[in-house]
Amino acid sequence: MSVAPNSGDGKITVPELLQRKSRAAGSHSDSQKITCLTAYDYPTARLLDEAGVDVILVGDSLGMVVLGQENTLQVTIDEMLHHARAVRRGTHRALMVVDMPYGSYHTDNAESLRNAVRFVKEAGAEAVKVEGGERRLELIARLTEAEIPVMGHVGLTPQSVNALGGYRVQGKTADAAEQLLRDAHAVESSGAFAVVLEAVPRELAAQITCELRIPTIGIGAGPDCDGQILVVHDLLGLTLGATPKFARQYANVGEIISNAVREYCSDVRSGGFPSDAESYHAALAAKGRKTIFIAS
Ligand code: KIV
Repeated sequence: MSVAPNSGDGKITVPELLQRKSRAAGSHSDSQKITCLTAYDYPTARLLDEAGVDVILVGDSLGMVVLGQENTLQVTIDEMLHHARAVRRGTHRALMVVDMPYGSYHTDNAESLRNAVRFVKEAGAEAVKVEGGERRLELIARLTEAEIPVMGHVGLTPQSVNALGGYRVQGKTADAAEQLLRDAHAVESSGAFAVVLEAVPRELAAQITCELRIPTIGIGAGPDCDGQILVVHDLLGLTLGATPKFARQYANVGEIISNAVREYCSDVRSGGFPSDAESYHAALAAKGRKTIFIAS
């Protein structure tokens, strides 16, 4: 078995993403940018993986975009494991990261580590993501010491929605910007391999990206981050409700589904579906005085 961080087969690994950041520092090209999307099931994971996405995140946005919940706080470890296993089966090239849901890393570090180990052992996660900056220093260090790569997440952290009082852009005052810088540095110094910057002014995200040695992955943080992430339902037009201004919609799959289902219902009602060609056939044969069907 090869021990090289990138065995040359195109598999995305943690060391390869770190190397991309250092290579990008010496060039002005955007070709090193890291592409990330969320996925929650097997077919979506396969499609994203085969389309060349670098990182697939099984996000706890699962609660909102798949399970129809109001926020991410109710998502359980078992639900994350269930969906992460499906994503694992469809992911071969991309790095698969699993979000630790609210409550799974908020008690003591020993229990948090046990929970993170479950994502690796039971779902094949190659890394986990935790929300929070300075206050996660010890936790991130403990997880990385246990060989679990960690992606940090600072700025707007949806699991803090009640504490933050809503989903708002973070780091807008001088004090808040300084705190965000400290948070990003804390995530890096505790051993995380990347950090998500969510809903952060472009200028601040650019400064953090410039100061950190690990890649920054932006979502609503402007174009200067080392990579970008979106919730795949937003990108595909499958989110049934308002989306934030940074969530560019690349396709309207929701409309395609609605039209297809309407057409199907109308064909069934009018007798247009199924057709004769879509039916199985049987030949008639006489058996004594009875006529029977022989499937053909
Ligand atoms: O849960 C999620 O989908 C996320 C990303 C949007 C960063 O945390």
